Formats: sequence, C-alpha cells, structure tokens
Amino acid sequence: MTDDLNRELERAVEQARSALSSVSTLDELEALETRVLGRKGELTGMLRRIGTLPPEQRGPFGQAANREKSALAEAVEARREELRNASLAGVRDFDPTTPGIRPARGHQHPVLAIRREIEEIFLSMGFLVLDGPEVETEHYNFEALNIPGHHPARDMQDTFWLETAPDVSFVMRTHTSPMQVRAMERFGVPIRAVVPGRVYRNETCDATHEATFHQVEGLVVDRGISVAHLKGVMGAFLGRLFGREVTVRLRPHYFPFVEPGFELDFQCVHCEGAGCSVCKRSGWIEMLGCGMVHPRVLEAGGADPEEFTGFAFGVGIDRLAMMRHVIEDIRHFHAGDLRFFEQF
Ligand code: DAH
Repeated sequence: MTDDLNRELERAVEQARSALSSVSTLDELEALETRVLGRKGELTGMLRRIGTLPPEQRGPFGQAANREKSALAEAVEARREELRNASLAGVRDFDPTTPGIRPARGHQHPVLAIRREIEEIFLSMGFLVLDGPEVETEHYNFEALNIPGHHPARDMQDTFWLETAPDVSFVMRTHTSPMQVRAMERFGVPIRAVVPGRVYRNETCDATHEATFHQVEGLVVDRGISVAHLKGVMGAFLGRLFGREVTVRLRPHYFPFVEPGFELDFQCVHCEGAGCSVCKRSGWIEMLGCGMVHPRVLEAGGADPEEFTGFAFGVGIDRLAMMRHVIEDIRHFHAGDLRFFEQF
C-alpha cells in the first residue's frame, strides 16, 4: 500500500515537473498549479489518503509528500517569474552591449539661447534682469516715454490696441522700453537693469518683420553717466556676445525717449569693415537703438534729472540669432517646423 502511494507520488511529481517546463503562458501555469497543488489537486488528494496507511508509515509518507509539495510550489513560482519576464517585450533578449537609441530631447529655441547669453553677460556686469508685462498700458508704452497721443512718433510703431477700460487703454507692448519707467518706479535710482521680453507690432510680415519678436531693454541711471559709458558698455556687451573685440560707432537718430538718441553700428565681423554681402558692402551692421535717457522719462520714473543722468538701449534678439546662425527669414522662428529647430 505504501509502495503504491509512494509510487503514485513519484509519478505525479515527475509529470508535474515535465508539464511545468512545457507551460508557455501564465494561464497554463495557473491551471497546472490548481490541478497539482490546489485544494482538490493531486498531491492534496494523496495526503488525504494518508489515513489508509499503517500508522508507522504515515509520518514518513506525509513528510515526503509535503517536501515534494513545497518544492513544486517553489518551482511553480520560479516559472511564473520567468513567464512574467518573458512577457516584457524584448527583455529576455536584452543585449547591454548594443548601442542605445538616443531619446528625443528638447532643447532651447535659438532665440531663447541668445537671450540667456545676454542675461548672463549683463548679470556679470552687475545688472538686474527684470521681466515686464506684455499687455501694457498706453501710459507706460507711450506717454511715460515722452510719446504723447497724436505725437507722430506713435506711427513709428504699429500698435495692437486692446479693448479699452473707461480710464485706461491697453496695448500689446510695442517695445520693452516701458520697463525703463516701471523699473525706476520699482527700484529707484541709481539702477542698472536689463529687461528681455516679447514685443508685438501690427505689421505686415515679411522675411525681416514679424508681428511678435524679442528685445532686450537696458537702462543705467546714476550720477554722472555719459555717452562714453553707453559706448563702453555696448562695446563690452557685443564683444562678449560675439567672442571677439568689436568696433562700434554711434549715428544720431531720433527716439522720443532719449536725447541725444543714436543708432549703434558695429564694424562687420565678417569682412572687418571692408564691405561684404553680410553688411551690404557698407562695412557696418546696424545693431540697436540707444541714447541718453530723456529728462521727461527720468521724471516719469521718479528720478531727478538735475541730479541723475542715464543711458538706455533696445536690441532685437531675433536679429542677433539670425545673424549668428545666418538665418534668412525671421518667420522660421515661429513656423514650428522641426527640421528648422533641429539644426540648433
Ligand atoms: N524701443 C525702441 C524700439 O523698439 C528701441 C530703443 C531705442 C530702445 C532707443 C531704447 C533706446 O532704450 O534708447 O524701436
């Protein structure tokens, strides 16, 4: 009798083991587990029949059957783990020596990259870096900058007017210059600050004009500031940005918020002034608007023009990015074509 039961046990275990090695899905494995180890399973059934054995054989048989049972349970667990791993696609065949697939990572927009560089340069010169509102009041965008209503200078910048509240008119800021006055109001003078940001113009778009682009405004107000400081700081800034010494020149130009006002040119870094296609044969590249802060603007910011003078400048960031990367059309920046962006 014992022999029968023992042989039965042996055979059942053997069969279970070979079945185990051939199951190929978790479902099959579970069915096998139930059939052999379940409450009504084969091994359990044999253990129930232990009472049919003579008393002295019950102990040894029970121990043997239980040992087999837990060994099988372990083997089932191990197989389950194997099947699970195999079901994670490719994991079983993972070869750590094959070259990886580089995940697609984003990167900075070329305009943002230059903006950050400019911020770094001015931070290192002790400037604050400020942020201002893109929806601006008529007061800060125009009046406080010495551009009263009906002043012809308003036509210099085509403006997106927004809906008007009873006592204020809002615009999409046409330049970053309104932050000159806001910065003086907020931080007082003396002050050194730059304000990068997006501006808006209600213009017909073409290769060099977009309805929205980016500027960096600069403002330095202190006692005894002169045009020499303006020229020196601009030269240092452009030198750092282009990574070489640059020669700059000032040409008189009218901007209502500066007096005197200038356009700043730098000597073409491609031909060093000899004249080439980049500088349109003139040897100079027009870079930015600047000047000595108009006394009315100082007053609007709460600074006493008798005591303080200052300079300001405004530079287009998109244009700088276009020059650096030789981009021929400003509209690429907003067109969202990845073939363009992936080049940077
Ligand atoms: N705000 C001017 C523009 O958008 C640029 C500019 C010119 C800014 C002269 C200045 C400045 O601060 O002094 O065209």
